[in-house]
Amino acid sequence: MHGAVLGRWLDALEARHLTGLTFSEVVRALRALSGRYVERRARLASALDTRGKRAAFALFYGPLHFLLVREIVRALGVLRVPRLMDLGCGTGVAGAAWALASTPRATVTGIDRHPWAVAETAWTYRMLGVQGRARRGELVGARPTLGAAIVAAFAVNELPAERRSLALTGLTRAVASDHSLLVVEPIAHGVAPWWDEWVDVFQRLGGRADEWHVTVDLPELLAKLDRAAGLDHRVLTARTIWVRAEG
Ligand SMILES: C[S@@+](CC[C@H](N)C(=O)[O-])C[C@H]1O[C@@H](n2cnc3c(N)ncnc32)[C@H](O)[C@@H]1O
Repeated sequence: MHGAVLGRWLDALEARHLTGLTFSEVVRALRALSGRYVERRARLASALDTRGKRAAFALFYGPLHFLLVREIVRALGVLRVPRLMDLGCGTGVAGAAWALASTPRATVTGIDRHPWAVAETAWTYRMLGVQGRARRGELVGARPTLGAAIVAAFAVNELPAERRSLALTGLTRAVASDHSLLVVEPIAHGVAPWWDEWVDVFQRLGGRADEWHVTVDLPELLAKLDRAAGLDHRVLTARTIWVRAEG
């Protein structure tokens, strides 16, 4: 069940990103984009280098990540966050999903290094009625606003190793100064030693690590794109680290 606001957002996404592109162009771009993610060679500069890939990212992965993060924050029972900071916000969906699930609704600051992502995030917030703003900036070293919970969804694995270490230091400091933190990442097919290190660090700070397999009733357009691209997202998966601020 997706609700009226979500339905209107999906319709608006379709109008925004399918105009001027055919369905098969988007499917082709989606295949290329998924190939990149599966091969773990994603670097957004190239992942978003064509209009088709940007459309596929916004139209397909955006809503999937929205649905997934919504389920995760519900399942973790973290539904009272006044402020959020969404690092590597992409089209803004992770922060938006959490803000809307929260009572009262949270305000969000989305940060991304890519100008297209910043513009899309501002649009997503408007469409979903989320109170928030998006700005261009670096994930590494971003200073969270006072009392904000931090979410970084599908972004940390895009960092090169040395930047990721700096991100770990920055986020550890943020947790130590009373910011909650949710890191969402794909379940890796191969070895990802950095993840084990992050789990270890944040568990020592009172955090927990989880793996998620969430069965979703995909909205029609997403189901159609999924099938046409030869993918299967009826079950959405992710792994997370969650640390609650002492507050
Ligand atoms: C795969 S997307 C995920 C977007 C969104 N969080 C979601 O869940 O759909 C990764 C995002 O991280 C951003 N990103 C990657 N490295 C970054 C960095 N060093 N600083 C800021 N943003 C970064 C990219 O521009 C991209 O928008």
